[in-house]
Amino acid sequence: MLEESEVLKVVLIGDGGVGKSSLMSRYITGKYDADSYHTIGVEFLNKNVTIGSKNFALQIWDTAGQERFKSLRTPFYRGADCCLLVFSVDDEQSFHNLELWKKEFMFYSNIEDSSFPFIVIANKCDIAPNERQVTSDEAKRWCSNNGGHTYVETSAKNANNVDYCFERAIRSIIRSDQEGVSISNLTSETPSIDLRAMAHQKKSESCC
Ligand code: GTP
Ligand code: MG
Repeated sequence: MLEESEVLKVVLIGDGGVGKSSLMSRYITGKYDADSYHTIGVEFLNKNVTIGSKNFALQIWDTAGQERFKSLRTPFYRGADCCLLVFSVDDEQSFHNLELWKKEFMFYSNIEDSSFPFIVIANKCDIAPNERQVTSDEAKRWCSNNGGHTYVETSAKNANNVDYCFERAIRSIIRSDQEGVSISNLTSETPSIDLRAMAHQKKSESCC
């Protein structure tokens, strides 16, 4: 009989436009869309991952960063095994907001454990140096002052470090950070949740 895969839930949060959907899409499909739309609510994609001889079903939950979608995204924080806090290096405000994002996640996921794995992702590292508003040193300092979080610089545009940041997430959950344990991935079904429809339904249900 086939052994059931353990589910690993990873949640992406951060300001609207920092590149959360682009990172997920790059990791799962290998594609990048320069004209992607803002996410409404949440979407999730699956990937089967094998680590050593164990199979995992990696569930990546991509949330909407815009404030108006707060009530749609926060119910999906519960049960997360790892949280990716994403900011964009060309947007200083998105970096300063990491603190608020972390608070929001901890509150709605009900996590009190100080060892819960957060990974800080500095995305859009492909931009020209003169457009950069947050330095690596500044971001690393924030990570070490706020719980010693792992820090990864990525570019969804040129795929730099994208696989690596999700691998770090997986390793932080299963704590198999040792050298030599290889990870292989296999994309599987890609469901998504239509929150626009859910919001409409809720409205009509609550109407008298
Ligand atoms: P919300 O869904 O509103 O929360 O935004 P998001 O964080 O999902 O951002 P999204 O992935 O939609 O990307 C926003 C814009 O930034 C799009 O135009 C992307 O093409 C662009 N973008 C995303 N990642 C990168 C990157 O690594 N480099 C550059 N230069 N642009 C990027
Ligand atoms: Mg998005």
